[in-house]
Amino acid sequence: MCGIIGIASNKPVSINIINSLKKLEYRGYDSAGIATLKDNSIDEKKCSGRVDELEKLLLKSPSNGNIGIGHVRWATHGIPNTVNAHPHSTENVSVVHNGIIENSDDLKKELETKGYIFKSQTDTEVITMLLTESLKNTDPLDSVFKTLSKLKGSFALGIIFKNFSDIIIGARRGSPLAVGYSNEENYLGSDSYALKSMTNKISYLDDGELCVLTKNNVSFYNVKKNKINKKIHTVSDDENVSDKGDYKNFMSKEIFEQPTTAKKCVSEYIDSLKKDINIYNFPIDPKKINKIILIGCGTAYHSCLVAKYWFEELTQIDIEIDIASEFRYRNVKFDNNNLYIFVSQSGETADTAAALEICKKNRVKTCSVVNVVESTIARNSDWVLPIHAGPEIGVASTKAFLGQLIVLYISCLKLSSARNEIDKKTYHQSIENLKKLPEAIKKTLNLETNIQLMAKEFLEARGSMFLGRGSSFPIALEGALKLKELSYLHAEGYPAGEMKHGPLALIEEGLPVIVIAPKDKYYEKTLSNMQEVISRGGKIFLITNNKKVSISENIRFGLRVPYIDDTLTPILLAVPLQLLAYHVALLKNCDIDKPRNLAKSVTVE
Ligand code: M6R
Repeated sequence: MCGIIGIASNKPVSINIINSLKKLEYRGYDSAGIATLKDNSIDEKKCSGRVDELEKLLLKSPSNGNIGIGHVRWATHGIPNTVNAHPHSTENVSVVHNGIIENSDDLKKELETKGYIFKSQTDTEVITMLLTESLKNTDPLDSVFKTLSKLKGSFALGIIFKNFSDIIIGARRGSPLAVGYSNEENYLGSDSYALKSMTNKISYLDDGELCVLTKNNVSFYNVKKNKINKKIHTVSDDENVSDKGDYKNFMSKEIFEQPTTAKKCVSEYIDSLKKDINIYNFPIDPKKINKIILIGCGTAYHSCLVAKYWFEELTQIDIEIDIASEFRYRNVKFDNNNLYIFVSQSGETADTAAALEICKKNRVKTCSVVNVVESTIARNSDWVLPIHAGPEIGVASTKAFLGQLIVLYISCLKLSSARNEIDKKTYHQSIENLKKLPEAIKKTLNLETNIQLMAKEFLEARGSMFLGRGSSFPIALEGALKLKELSYLHAEGYPAGEMKHGPLALIEEGLPVIVIAPKDKYYEKTLSNMQEVISRGGKIFLITNNKKVSISENIRFGLRVPYIDDTLTPILLAVPLQLLAYHVALLKNCDIDKPRNLAKSVTVE
């Protein structure tokens, strides 16, 4: 997704803007640009493609301004090219924008009647023109307020002004924006991660707020134009964040970090002395919870689906799962005795944040399961359960999925215990079993060599299917999502029992079908569904934990993951599917950390 940087300093800023834009590359983008104020004029440079290209432009023709804004763009309105890249500037003002202006067509028509000529196909350029128009009669702050009042949609903005050479104005509605502080230098950033190499002192703008930065000062205003104070947070220093070490890419690093992720997450939530889960202060008395609604997008949604099986197995609580982009527009009936749980790695996903906002408006209790604890979703929810996975840079979510599953499972156990719905022995045994998870994940990762061989079989395929029953069904969905987003190969995740109701028609000679069949209550049924696929020529890749299964000639490949207990099985089954997607993508020479068309943090709806 788009990313914003702004720096007001007492020295040239372009090198630091470029370095910060490189930190934002992980979000996924297609063009980049920078504008600084130099000799009382706006010096704008932009290009399609990578930040490296922009850096080359700056080497040829340096920008020496002490104040500037930079942007990486993920195209929404208009193709990814140089003209559509941000900033969008006139002689007097330059703008970078994250988000979508929904009434841009109407505003454009209005501005065209006043003689404004648009160069790009973007929605952003209307902001530049509106500012240019209002600056004729007023100062920058007032012109920004006037402009914002005309905009519908979501935005985070960074703006510089030719005639006011010491200020950057930032504004937020819907899309996140942070301010960083340092000595004789202040910063604007679409996330704190981009600012981390320069400062760990951060404030976050809330919706409707605006900030004015100079090198020595930052002022904040609310939507009513009153000056306000903002809290300054000290964000944690995560070591090795931007270091791939010996790994080829961040995704493989993150896959192989999973034993550590599991260890950290489990140790954060398990009190080994008391042999208990240290989650307290549920926002609703556990015994009074009527229903839990779990909401997320993409991989986070899949972790919610897995959790549904756990909650139904271990508690008497009614469970509903929802996709955030659907939930936010449905006519949902809210209830004070329901707990609404939002799952999001980034904590910035626009649909999930909007769904949370709706819950807040309806005054129901909310909880978030997030990786980024400083994020909008974490800050806006009543209660936060961090997953402690550390920064996840690869666009494809791996270790965060693992962390989400662990935290959801641990919360489910705790709720079940608080409601006296699990017997003490099972509760304590489940806690002990959780501690075995890191070692079991390590063993699962040892399957990599076999998975590399398996991956070769996907190179000529026209598509693939992932099948599972019970909690292996959402794991099948997740396996299919990983394969399609990384390798661009069509992959369909399906409940194995549903195949005969339609998708069986897709099976043809040699189609790769991944069957996820742990030795649980669905095992025999899943194997029968597998036979139906074999009879129709499907090439089977069986993933199981059954020690007794023999890999017959009808099964092209078999993988055996370790076993701890049935409830932890989906966590272990997810790992080989991550490796499979990774190796298919590697063989196909795909951009592993930045798959085409995708973004890490999806801040538009
Ligand atoms: O940051 P979030 O967890 O809210 O992100 C949700 C999805 O955008 C994300 O999981 C996406 O599906 C990943 N690319 C999957 O690997």
